[in-house]
Amino acid sequence: MIIAIDGPAASGKGTIARRLAAHYGLPHLDTGLLYRAVARALLDFDHPLGDETAAVRAAQALDRSHLDETRLRGREMGEAASVVAALPAVRAALVDWQRAFARRAEGAVLDGRDIGTVICPDAPVKIFVTATPEERARRRFRELAGRGESVTFEDVLDDIRRRDARDSGRATAPLAVAPDARLLDTTSLDIEQAFRAAVAIVDAAGIAPARA
Ligand code: CDP
Repeated sequence: MIIAIDGPAASGKGTIARRLAAHYGLPHLDTGLLYRAVARALLDFDHPLGDETAAVRAAQALDRSHLDETRLRGREMGEAASVVAALPAVRAALVDWQRAFARRAEGAVLDGRDIGTVICPDAPVKIFVTATPEERARRRFRELAGRGESVTFEDVLDDIRRRDARDSGRATAPLAVAPDARLLDTTSLDIEQAFRAAVAIVDAAGIAPARA
């Protein structure tokens, strides 16, 4: 069973995807980490983020050891990831990797921006997780402050709006709701409520594996 979770920044999709994976005993891939890792590699070697050739090389060289979250999670990396993620050749270089992960016999949970539309269009369960920009900015602000980043709420809200516009406006695999995705608006839900709502969607699809 493939569960495809998409949505904008700080919508709660990562937490929901992780918890669904644990609940159903499935492996989980946070595909945002792939784009973050490509951006990290460019910055580490002083390449401009728009250097498509270097970005594709970095994408082709990616392996699990590059997906260490602590180096990839900050505010700067989210912004940089959305710049490299708009390069069509970078997206193309990462498709096979993501599909191979999704094709495991036991199934998988993948979260990102184009899982239900491009990477796994045949996934039997697709959830598009969303929330208002202000609520997402509040969550991201708390998260960044917790990591010790000095940033204002207004900066974070600006980041969220800029990233939404870039991710939705790009020509290749833009952030979009798949026609057969279920919408899950988490604006007024806490993590537990959002998780329960996601489980209800998966269970209603009638293809859930035996619980782990
Ligand atoms: O956690 P957050 O939602 O802030 O970011 P993320 O999921 O780690 O994604 C970072 C950036 O990577 C996004 O703003 C997208 O531009 C890009 N991305 C993408 O284009 N396609 C994906 N499947 C996943 C992420």
